[in-house]
Order: sequence, then structure tokens, then C-alpha cells
Amino acid sequence: MTLAKVLARARAGMDLEREEIITLLETADPEERSQIYETAEALTLYYLGPEVHLRGLVEFSNYCTRNCNYCGLRADNHRLNRYRMTSEEIVAVAEQIELMGLKTIVLQSGEDYWYTLEMMTRIIQEIKQKTNLAITLSLGEREFTELKAWKEVGADRYLLKHETVNPDIFAEIKPDSSYEHRLGILDQLSQLGYQVGSGGMIALPGQSLTDLADDLLFIRTNKIGMAGFGPFIPHGDTPYRGYPSGSGELSLLMLAVARIVLRQVHLPATTALETLLQDGRRRALEVGANVIMPNFTPLEYRKLYEIYPNKAQTSLDEVREVILSLGRIVGTDSGDVLI
Ligand code: 5AD
Ligand code: SF4
Repeated sequence: MTLAKVLARARAGMDLEREEIITLLETADPEERSQIYETAEALTLYYLGPEVHLRGLVEFSNYCTRNCNYCGLRADNHRLNRYRMTSEEIVAVAEQIELMGLKTIVLQSGEDYWYTLEMMTRIIQEIKQKTNLAITLSLGEREFTELKAWKEVGADRYLLKHETVNPDIFAEIKPDSSYEHRLGILDQLSQLGYQVGSGGMIALPGQSLTDLADDLLFIRTNKIGMAGFGPFIPHGDTPYRGYPSGSGELSLLMLAVARIVLRQVHLPATTALETLLQDGRRRALEVGANVIMPNFTPLEYRKLYEIYPNKAQTSLDEVREVILSLGRIVGTDSGDVLI
């Protein structure tokens, strides 16, 4: 099928087939890529309007029990200084996030069981008492009883990236995790009533464009409400230090195709994309992104949350300026997912 036909079907609101998604991802000609970008932009405005939702990110602990081969926070990286924020510090940042006009806080950490069921419960309760923020948790693979308890005290959303839907690559990149177990947790999260976010990395060793198409189908099939896709960036203190970085341009194309395939799913301009691509945040917003996660981690900790090197920084003022300069507006409600 020609590109024009695929884009026409997308504009008509049809569910694209696997082969059509691959056609979009294989597009290399710059003129044809522009057509994809224009369609993605039009569909963003049609399905979601001009609102861009801001989520205040707090990376509250860089301890991690796992050894993912790509990630600088992996347990065996002894060159990294580790930190944990106290409950008081976390709640203080939540209040600051609300003061700055944001509606959602994202509590993110490595997989750190030092924060027990009870501790996280208290933190969530306190944030809910002191603010009107929606709470997104991003704590990795946790027990069903924990996920259930946190939902009951008011957690709204949970981010757990599937990373890649290709089970062989998953086993390579996350040698101490189970693919089935991780996907099972995504199911549990939906059943518990969380708004669920997932997503993955682009240009992992051995990954094909077909794998990326399958990643998008995975999000669509499982009715996941938010999907973050960013390029793999090698970190010098990990086993994957020698692999090439993902391409910024391919990552931008993946974002545009994600918008075309996934319609009203929330898609962030990922920090990894901003890190690799000149003017990446603006370009991401132009081709489908409708979420940005400005970083509110206290500065002394932020530099230690080094998943990959040279992580882009997102200051709130810059972000607001880019949004307005594109004729978009900052979302004024909590920006719940739409599926
Ligand atoms: N490059 C790009 N993204 C990475 N992540 C972790 N390590 C890297 C890397 N080297 C992303 C993964 C993970 C989240 C913590 O950050 O998608 O889910
Ligand atoms: Fe830990 Fe997540 Fe990094 Fe894996 S990707 S090492 S689980 S922080």
C-alpha cells in the first residue's frame, strides 16, 4: 500500500494494520516523512486539542535492585553515588509542584524496596491531603498487594514501560526480569483501575522496525493510556557501553507514527529524545507529543539520577515558552488519560 493511502486511512479514523505501520516506520524520504509529520500533527489537534499536559517529575531514589544491561542505575554500577529522599523531602517537592501550577506529580525511582508498602502509602496519603495533585507512580515491578493498597489511598496512575515487546530482546536487556511477569503487572494495574502508562526504547541491540510496529500494537491492544518511547542511549558504566545510540530522527518518526496509530493516547516528549535531537522538545510537540515532564528533583540529587549520560534538562519556563510559541496551551486540568 502506498504511503498516501495509509495516511488517508489514518485520517479517516481507521485502525492501521501491522503492515501499514511498518510502511510508515520504513519511510526514509524526507518529503514523505514530512507528510507523516503533518498527519500526526493534525491528528493530535483533532483528538486532543491544543492542550499540553505538564507532569512534575520527582526522581526520589536512584537505588535499584535490578541489573538491566542498558541502565546507569543498575545495582552493579558501583561508580554511582546513591541517594534516597525522605518522605518529608518528597512531600515538600509535591507542594512546590502544585505551587508552580502543575496538576500531576510523578513519583519515580529505581526498583527500591527500601520504600515499603507502608512508607509509600503514607507518602501518597500525605500528598493527597496537602495538595490536589494527581499522583503517578513509577516504581518498577511491585507486588499486587502494594499496587492495590496505593490505589486505595489515592494513587491515580502507574508507569511501567514494557521496554520491548520482543521477548528475546527483553531477555537480553533485562536478564533478571521476566517478560511474562512484567506484562502480567500491566494487566493487574488496569484491573485495579489505574490509568496505565507504558512504552519502550528505540534502537535496542537487535531490534527491528517490525519490533517497533509490534510495540505500538501492544499499546493499542492492551488499551494503555500513555506511551513513552525514547531512543536507547549507551551509558559508559554499563555492559551496553559499546552499542550505538538510537537515532533522534527515527525516534521522532516513531513518535509521529505512535500518534497516528494510537490516536488519543497520551504521548510525552521524552527526555531521551530531547537529549539526542536538536530542538527535540519542540519537534516532538509538533509531531504528536502532548505531555511534558519537567524535572523537579532537587538539584543535588538530579545529577545522580543518571540513567544515561547528558540527560536533557527541562526547565518549567522554557517548556511553557515552547508550548505557547507553537500556538498550543498548557493543560489546566489533571489531564486524565482518555482510554
Ligand atoms: N537509554 C534510554 N533510555 C533508557 N532508560 C533506561 N536506560 C536507558 C538508556 N540507556 C529508560 C527505560 C526505563 C527508564 C528508567 O528509562 O525506558 O524504563
Ligand atoms: Fe533499575 Fe529501571 Fe534501570 Fe532496570 S531500567 S536498572 S529496573 S532503574
